[in-house]
Formats: sequence, C-alpha cells, structure tokens
Amino acid sequence: MTEPLIIGAMVRTLGAYPSGWRHPGAHRDPAGDAAVLRRIAELGEEAGLDYLFFGDWLATGPDLEFRDPYLLARIDPLSAVLFLAGVTSRIGLIATVNTTYADPYATARALASLDVLTGGRAGVNLVTGVEPRAAGNHGRDAHADNENRYDRAEEFVTALDRLWDSWSADAWIADADRGVLIDPDGLREAGVEGAHVRVTGPLNVARPPQGRLPIVHAGTSPRSRALAATEADLALIAAPSLADAVATRTGLRLLAAEAGRSPEAVRVIAPVLPVVGETDAEAQAIVARLLSLVPLAEEHQRSRPAFPVNRSVTALADALGVAADDPLRSAAFDAPVTAAEAERLGEEGAALIERLARIAGLEISGSARGTSLTWRHLVAAHAVPGAFVVGSAASVADHFETWRDAGAADGFNVLSAFQPAQFEAFTRLAAPELRRRGLLGREGSTLRERLSVTPRVGSSRLVSSGVDA
Ligand SMILES: Cc1cc2nc3c(=O)[nH]c(=O)nc-3n(C[C@H](O)[C@H](O)[C@H](O)COP(=O)(O)O)c2cc1C
Repeated sequence: MTEPLIIGAMVRTLGAYPSGWRHPGAHRDPAGDAAVLRRIAELGEEAGLDYLFFGDWLATGPDLEFRDPYLLARIDPLSAVLFLAGVTSRIGLIATVNTTYADPYATARALASLDVLTGGRAGVNLVTGVEPRAAGNHGRDAHADNENRYDRAEEFVTALDRLWDSWSADAWIADADRGVLIDPDGLREAGVEGAHVRVTGPLNVARPPQGRLPIVHAGTSPRSRALAATEADLALIAAPSLADAVATRTGLRLLAAEAGRSPEAVRVIAPVLPVVGETDAEAQAIVARLLSLVPLAEEHQRSRPAFPVNRSVTALADALGVAADDPLRSAAFDAPVTAAEAERLGEEGAALIERLARIAGLEISGSARGTSLTWRHLVAAHAVPGAFVVGSAASVADHFETWRDAGAADGFNVLSAFQPAQFEAFTRLAAPELRRRGLLGREGSTLRERLSVTPRVGSSRLVSSGVDA
C-alpha cells in the first residue's frame, strides 16, 4: 500500500481568499485571533493533519487590503506556534522565517526551544522574501537581490544545522550523585564564518529532540529550486496546474539526485484551496458568493488609488482583447452576462466561463438552470488566483488522489477561503474521506517521523573553519 500524503494546514486567520473575510460568519477581527487559532489547532489535530503552517510577510500597507488582506495584520509566525505549542499535543508546528532579515542564532534558539517544549514537533519554512518594504523595517536601504538573498540563505541553513548540533546526544549527563552535569567534550562550537553569516555558538538551548529540525523552503526562482533540492526536507511549490506541478516536482527530484541526495529526500508540497460543502452544489454556491464579494477597482479607484490594477473590468476587457468601444467596458458589474455578450469574449472568455461553470456552477444569462454569471464574477475569476478544488468530500479526495497518482505532489498545504467555517468543513467532511482512501493518516510522534524524512546530513557548501557538519 502506498503511504498517506503529507497534509498540513496553511493557517491564515482572516481567510486565504481575498473576499473570504466578507463571507457571512467569517472571522474578521484580529482581536479574536487567539480563539480562532485554538479552534483551527483543535480541528487539525483531531482530523490527523500532519502540521499547522504559518507563512510570513515583513511589511504592511493599505494596498494589501484589496490584494491579500490576510497580510495586513497578523500574529507573527513564531508567536503563533509558541502559543499553539501549549494547546496541542500531536500536530507539527511550522513557522516561516525570512533568512534575509532574521538572525540565525536567535532563530536557531527560538526553534530549538519550540522543539524541546513540544517533544519534537517543530519545523521551519525558510523564505528569502520578495517584499521590498521589508528593507525599511529592518534598517536596510534596499531589499537584497535574488543572488545575495540565496547566498545568505545557504549560509543560514548551515548555521542552523551547526547550532542545532551544538550538543551531542549524550552531552547532558545530569548525574546528581557524581555532581556531573555535562560532558564538556559534547558541546561544540558552530564556527560559521561566511560572507553573510557569522556565528560562533554553541547554542544555549538543550539539543532539540529532532536534532536538525525539518526544513521547508518556499520559492520559485532557479536559486530557490537549488536550495530546496540540496537543503530542504519539504519544498513548497507554486502549482498553477497539475502539469506545472509534475514538471516542478520532477525537476526538484532530479536536482536532489545531482546533489547526491535520494530523490525522495525532498518531498514536494502543493498549496490547495478546497471549498468544501455537503454536496457539490453547496460548495459551488460558496465559490459563487466569494466571487461576487470581490470588490472591483472601478468601485474604489477614486478613494483607493492603491487598488490592484488587475481587479477591474478594464483589465478583463484588455485581457480579452475586446474593442475600445465594446459595451463590456461600461457594463454594470452586477449585471448578468447574456449569451450574445458572451459571444464577443472569444476563446479566452469562453475558457473563463467554462471554468466558472465548473467551480461555481454559474451559467450565462438565459440558460435554463443555474445562477447567472455576472461581470463581477468574470473579473474576480480572471484576476484573483484561486487554486480552488470545489465540491463534496469525494470531489476533494479525487483531486488529492489524482495529483498523487500523477506524481504532481507528495502532499498538500490546505488553505481555507474563510475561517473557521471552511477549515471545519474540510476537517469534518473531506478529512474522513481522505483517511478512508488511505490519503491521510501518517504516524510518528515527532514531525520528522511523521514526514518520514531522514535527518539531513548537512550542507556541502560549508562556510566555516574547524567544525565538521
Ligand atoms: C507556496 C509558496 C508560499 C510562500 N510563502 C511565503 C511566505 O509566507 N513569506 C514570504 O516572504 N515568501 C513566501 N513565498 C515566496 C518565496 O519565498 C519567494 O520569495 C517568491 O516565491 C519569489 O521567489 P524566489 O524567492 O525564488 O525569488 C512563498 C512562495 C511559495 C511558492
């Protein structure tokens, strides 16, 4: 029998879809994040998910309100996992750390502490970041370029591994009778002397139960791929389609083999946004509602110049190549799209309508069944990325199974359009079906055991003197 997939929750308390927070009943007040985080943790643990995952973004600004509202204000990831450490007992806890700005010693220390406190359930997602405003928040003139960021990230991983190796497994003796607390020979310096990272060590936290903690890496550039293939246990990829995911996973496994690792050493995780209902129709109605709640630029551009330019009727009209005087450009957002108007939209328009019919059950006006498609639905579907998988438990499980069988992913990071109702629906409806099909339900008391990733042997690109990794 094939092993279950790796399945974790990518936690965004404000919901992962831009209009999710507007959905009736959705959590939308950050002051209540503690209760929602607890609820998500409880649900994830009960459902047998492998981990809770927290992304990060080191700046904010009013432009994010309409682009990615969940980035506006949220609990920082290390605080979130430490908070949840005390209210969970089995599930893994993965926090994102930005290697461009974080301090390696402080990072190794916080994560080793989390690992000790949770009995080995800690993991870290290392990113190098793309948000230029992060520079100003950290006393830098500019955000470093891709090459420099990844040069530092590589040294950062070496530093983490060295620091987590500070204490050999038997260095803590604690023999009260003899009065011997430690074996000084078991305490090692890190001795990292890189171009970007310098750290002496040893680490002033006991050896983490997992030793070297599982490392996740999320990125898209060639340098990101190289880092994932050589250093990461899990590679979190952008996966716009099954074919893209297959190609990315194949490439990563090849790179891992070239770096002397087993291709299986790097597990590829794709993000997915399941919109789950008791029936396919119920789930489609949720998506239709989410699409209808996406604000459009034309409604806000006078008051909010920072509105994302792609969220507009004009952008849709341009993308579909309709003429300057086409009535689409002056259409009322919430007017239904008629069959005659749909005809003008060409091949791309037809593909968009077909996609909407599939995910939201929306039909062009005048057809016998279904709810009418509006221009707002079309603009939202075109502009707002949504790795939607829509339907009942069986439809969601079919998607997971299809991707697994095609070699597109070893697991999924599950996003929820709004919280906590959609995560509840996923855990109540989809998780039991995934379990029944053997797609969910990994074993292991530490995160490393659950992920069945072998301990990393360590960086080949050592940047220091004196110490063997
Ligand atoms: C699925 C996925 C999740 C990501 N999550 C984060 C995140 O939480 N914080 C962050 O700063 N960057 C995140 N990134 C961005 C990457 O770290 C990266 O900066 C971006 O994809 C640009 O690619 P590059 O780093 O390869 O240049 C994520 C990327 C992917 C593919």
